[in-house]
Parts: sequence; C-alpha cells; structure tokens
Amino acid sequence: MPGELAHDLRIPRRLDEQARQDFVSSLRGFVLHDMANDLREVYHRDVLPEATRRLGHEPADSGEVHRALKSNLTFQLYSAMRVNAQEMVWDSVRAPVERNAAWINARVEEAARQAQGSLTLDPELELPRNVSALDVHLMPGNYDSEHGPGDASQGALYDNGTVVFFMGLLGPDQGDIGRSIARFMRARHPDLQPQKMLDLGCTLGHNTLPWAETFPEAEVHAIDVSAPVLRYAFARAESMGRPVHFRQMNATSLDYEDNSFDVVWSSMFLHELPLKDIRKVLREAHRVLRPGGLMLHMELPPNKALPAYDGFYLDWDSWYNSEPFYKTFRDQDPAALLAEAGFPADGFFEHVAPSVNWYGEDTFDQAVGEGAAVGKDTGRLAEGVSWYFFGARK
Ligand SMILES: C[S@@+](CC[C@H](N)C(=O)[O-])C[C@H]1O[C@@H](n2cnc3c(N)ncnc32)[C@H](O)[C@@H]1O
Repeated sequence: MPGELAHDLRIPRRLDEQARQDFVSSLRGFVLHDMANDLREVYHRDVLPEATRRLGHEPADSGEVHRALKSNLTFQLYSAMRVNAQEMVWDSVRAPVERNAAWINARVEEAARQAQGSLTLDPELELPRNVSALDVHLMPGNYDSEHGPGDASQGALYDNGTVVFFMGLLGPDQGDIGRSIARFMRARHPDLQPQKMLDLGCTLGHNTLPWAETFPEAEVHAIDVSAPVLRYAFARAESMGRPVHFRQMNATSLDYEDNSFDVVWSSMFLHELPLKDIRKVLREAHRVLRPGGLMLHMELPPNKALPAYDGFYLDWDSWYNSEPFYKTFRDQDPAALLAEAGFPADGFFEHVAPSVNWYGEDTFDQAVGEGAAVGKDTGRLAEGVSWYFFGARK
C-alpha cells in the first residue's frame, strides 16, 4: 500500500483514485516480490544449465544473463507485468494532479511572495537530451514538460507517482534516502559541520530537505535543469519552512565559484546521465568543493559488486524502463571515476546506510553507532531497506 504524503502540497484524492493507487502499489509489490522470486528460480533451474552448456561457461555478466533469459516465457511475463505496472503508476496519479494543477501553480506564486529561500530559473538554459528527448522511467512528460506558463505540475506528478512506485517506503515526506545518508555521515564524521552544501539533480528537493534538517547551520543550495520540478521543489520546501536556494542549472557546468562548498551530493541522479556528462559533473563537483570537502552520491550498487544475476536484475530498467544510461553507469568502477575527476584515490569510500524509515531511529542509531550497517544489499535486492552511496573527500 502506498503511504500518504504529509506536506502542504499534498493534493486531495477521491476514493476511487486512492483505491487505484493502492492497487498499483500492491501490483508492484507482487511483481517485485512474488514474480521476481519465481523468475530467479526459473533462471537457476531451467535457463542457467542450458546457457552454461551453450556458452561453455556460466553467464558471467548482466548482459549474458539477459541474453540467456530473453526468450523465456516467465521472463517475458515478468517484464510485461512490470512495464504495465510502471505505466499504471503514472496513470494512477495523473487525474488528481491535472485537476489540482492550478492550485499547485498558485502555491508556487504564493511561496515566491514570502520566501525564506529562493528560486532562480534560467529560461535560456538549453536542456540536455537525457532530459529533453526522453520520458525517463516512462513518466509521461518527464521532468521538464510545461503545460502553461509557470507550470509545476510535472513536480506534482513525480511526487505523487513516486509514493505509489516506492509503496510508501520513503516515508511521508519521501526523504528517507537523504535522511538516512545525512544522519549516517553525521554519526560517522562528528567533525562534519558544513556551512554550505549543494544537491545536484534535486528534482523535488525531497532528499535535499533532510540534509538541511540534519545540518541546520548550513546554507543549502540545490540545482536541476528542469524548471517545473524546481518550482514545485521551491513551494514544497517553503511550505515546510526549509529555506533552500534552488537554481536551474546544468550540473555539467556549475555557476558557482571554485572551493565554495563543504558538501556536494546527489541521490539517484548520476545514472540518468550519459557517461561523458557524469565525468563532467564529477569534475565540477571537485572544482566547487573546498579542500577537505565531501562529495557523495547515492545510487544502486555497481555491477562489479554483485553476482551476474543480481546485476542483470537491476539493469532491467536500462532495457525496459526508459533508463538508457543506467547500465553503462552501473558497469563503471566508482573509485576509478572519482580518481579521474581529481579526487585522491585514498579518499574514496562506499557505504550502505540503513533506512531510518524502515528500521526506526533507535535501530538506525544503534547500527550506525556500532559501525555495522543493517543488511548488506540495497534497493530491490534487500530484505530490509538500505541505501548504497559512494564518495570521496577532496
Ligand atoms: C531521478 S531524478 C533525481 C532524483 C532526486 N535527486 C532524488 O533524490 O530522488 C533526476 C533529476 O536530474 C535532473 N537532471 C538531469 N540531467 C541533469 C543535468 N545535466 N544537470 C542537472 N540536472 C539534471 C532531472 O531534471 C531530474 O530532476
């Protein structure tokens, strides 16, 4: 069952809409749990022996597992169900978002009149094709479509849709990733007292705000290329009393001075960029960080850290969910990418932070304090919920 958004931009849902959203969340749960377990079993029992005989070795990477499974009926049924469930996520929230679009847009204008933070858009900014030419994860209109002047409704579509998609796992403000990682870093690095922080590819700011909450002394900046989601993020942050400075900007070319931030981070952002842009973003993050500053990125774990089947399972999105850059990114070695961007090789770290929302504050504090993360897997592979991230100090 999806959770309920708990912030002032929450839009009212009719009972039939609520029922439809509950159904779609449950359907996703069925596909990602029951059907996924069947698929794993069918692979190991029926597909692997034949593929191993044909190849002369066990499928060794995600691509070989995918090729071995492609003609299998269980895989085809799983994929068809999952694609349909994905489309139904957006369909289930589209009507209430459209009905409330004028109200949402009015909230943005209202926020601008009495803002503690700021919103700076750049109408001249050329959108990169990874945004303008795609409907990422099959979201109609993507992050950037504007249905009229000053429109923020793609932000509302993403906010309401991801509650259904994540089945409420991210908590009522959808901030679990940012909250879990920021608190993990504060606990592990008591010396970390940032004064200025930057979130790259912030979308709704739902993972920006928990960093602001965890480090209340810091000035918080967040950028994205897409104006509609930024408008929504700004109104959402203001409604929660969190002053954040949102700017429309390409992360490959940051309009900030050298050595100006203590922390630069992103969540679920890099995998949506072509590799050439990921390299530019990491170099830019390095440039704007102060010496000793911290950069980190939450993502799904790289293929090299996983068995071939698990890698294939996570790469599914790249083939079937309009996430064309996802596999290329997951095939990289994060430590090598950071070294190329100028970070010292011995500064590299990677962690798995337990989810505050899933385990509760006490278990979280205990696990992080003891130096052990709960669960070793992350995202869709996990029994519980944990978040992988990697980074380095400049
Ligand atoms: C998956 S969303 C990020 C989600 C969000 N950070 C979170 O915590 O869940 C990817 C975002 O990156 C933005 N984006 C894509 N390419 C970008 C670029 N080159 N520079 C800045 N933002 C970009 C998109 O507009 C979109 O809002």
